[in-house]
Amino acid sequence: MSIHYVAHTKEIEEGKSKIVELEGRSIGIYRIGDDYYALHNRCPHEGAQLCKGPVCGTTMPSNVYEYEFGRKGELVRCPWHGWEFEIKTGKSVFSDKVRTRSYKVQVDNGKIGIVL
Ligand code: FES
Repeated sequence: MSIHYVAHTKEIEEGKSKIVELEGRSIGIYRIGDDYYALHNRCPHEGAQLCKGPVCGTTMPSNVYEYEFGRKGELVRCPWHGWEFEIKTGKSVFSDKVRTRSYKVQVDNGKIGIVL
């Protein structure tokens, strides 16, 4: 495994992301608070560029006729059909078996590195 420095912390504001190309892969880097996460920029449904979708929250489990919104800023929503994925893990919100790949991120002196 090796670290590939692909961005600087100053480039990504809280709640925002940046898409980078690395060794033939398109990867979205996200900032949540002071932490950074990286997701494969491909939706497992039909292959959309997942990381071009909005950072969002979702509707939480609730009783009939109740509407509870939560997890604001923790998810990315696919721009094609709306599947939602956890930015921290790449896991979909509806199944443990459906996910996009996540990559380990390491920050050194403001440089954001992806471990491949
Ligand atoms: S391609 Fe992403 S939800 Fe369909």
